[in-house]
Amino acid sequence: MLKRWFSTLHVFGRELVANPRQVGAACPSSPILAGRIAALVGRQPEGYVIELGAGTGAITHALLEAGVPASRLIPVERSERLAAHLQKRFPAVGVHHRDARDLKQLANELARTGDRHVSHVVSSLPLRSLPEADVQHILAAVGQVLGERGLFIQYTYSVRGGNEPAHQLHWCGRSVVWLNLPPARVDVFATQPATAAEFRKNSGWSAPDGNLATAS
Ligand SMILES: C[S@@+](CC[C@H](N)C(=O)[O-])C[C@H]1O[C@@H](n2cnc3c(N)ncnc32)[C@H](O)[C@@H]1O
Repeated sequence: MLKRWFSTLHVFGRELVANPRQVGAACPSSPILAGRIAALVGRQPEGYVIELGAGTGAITHALLEAGVPASRLIPVERSERLAAHLQKRFPAVGVHHRDARDLKQLANELARTGDRHVSHVVSSLPLRSLPEADVQHILAAVGQVLGERGLFIQYTYSVRGGNEPAHQLHWCGRSVVWLNLPPARVDVFATQPATAAEFRKNSGWSAPDGNLATAS
């Protein structure tokens, strides 16, 4: 266990030194943050769960522990080193070493191999340090690949901020995780306003202040 932790920190640290803007974090996600996100996805997601920027696999691990079947979990990671680490750590999961900008193409490929749609996109991508054009491209693709009741889950280290992502994604709510380095804010977005309203009703998460449902 301790050995795995050190090896994870080692691989993360090497990547951070090599590509600081792409990694965009000082540490892997804490188990508390990963667990908060996994609880949102639940045991039986209706479709594929695509995880963008899976890094060292803290959230991948929590999703599997929460009961997401390995066959429905699709981690995507741009770094070759981290993708190889992920594949070794989770041999039952098909890790995709590719760029999140390929999201739409990836969803099309999944649609050809199975009959399940994409129900969740979980993202660790450092949206604040990626080029703006890439961010807009990825967010547009998220809205296109998610099914009707789909959820987009993104975290950021700006705990006091608002609800940045948009592209026709409707903000459902936010929750701050203090036990993470640094503390993180998890935001959830839905493709349909009704799903966002239902999420707010059932989750008890902080609701948007005013009409932020289609903020950009
Ligand atoms: C904050 S770190 C991941 C933290 C992860 N939850 C963990 O615990 O290790 C962000 C990750 O996103 C990856 N990333 C950044 N831009 C990407 C892109 N365009 N496509 C895919 N992955 C990307 C980075 O390589 C990095 O592994």
